[in-house]
Amino acid sequence: PQPTAADVSLWSARYIADRINAFAPTQDRPFVLGLPTGGTPLATYRRLVELHQAGEISFRHVVTFNMDEYVGLAKTHPQSYHSFMHQHFFEHIDIEPANINLLDGNAADLAAECTRYESKIKQYGKIHLFMGGVGSDGHIAFNEPASSLSSRTRIKTLTEDTRLANSRFFDNDPNQVPRMALTVGVGTLLDAEEVLILVTGHNKAQALQAAVEGGVNHMWTISALQLHPRSLMVCDQAATMEL
Ligand code: GLP
Repeated sequence: PQPTAADVSLWSARYIADRINAFAPTQDRPFVLGLPTGGTPLATYRRLVELHQAGEISFRHVVTFNMDEYVGLAKTHPQSYHSFMHQHFFEHIDIEPANINLLDGNAADLAAECTRYESKIKQYGKIHLFMGGVGSDGHIAFNEPASSLSSRTRIKTLTEDTRLANSRFFDNDPNQVPRMALTVGVGTLLDAEEVLILVTGHNKAQALQAAVEGGVNHMWTISALQLHPRSLMVCDQAATMEL
């Protein structure tokens, strides 16, 4: 636990930078980083950009895989995860465009797109570090309640709760939030060498409680991380209220 959300972002950015630097990636041996979107990781992205600008971290030999994307939203739509990532992170660092991987929510064959993504991850062997957030209902990536804990990358229908929660990015109108998304599976996340989850705010307190004190449960997909030998939750005080 950290005192505030700002501390969570500082700690997490430093942690990620240390991991990449300790690995000392090269072109032939890139560091493979899994990434989330959402409000929570924004400050961590800002901190990583600052560390990059201070010359403390380079992303030249880092390959990224984002965890999810809406279906049917144009890439250029300001709320597509494609836009989000470029605007808040990729445009500000020295990553090679070819090393950026995002699911294409406009692919003609969405199932094939999910298979392509899984194969691409496998080409690198594994994801070294997967950063994530959590939904207030305990979902990780877009693995909504009742997702299989061994699921792989696939199409998911979003719950009303999730669409309501994310409507704050869509003029507060849940009807503008896409109904479906492509998401890595819980199994895909569990395959990462290490998982780092950021949890901030009162509205995540129940999810954090289910994640660490509840049983492994497909209704709170974040709880699957209890099965992972190297998963870490970085939280602020507000998120610990139910522990
Ligand atoms: C979305 C994303 C998740 C994210 C969650 C919480 O559902 N697919 O990856 O963890 O929102 O987002 P926020 O950090 O904005 O609360």
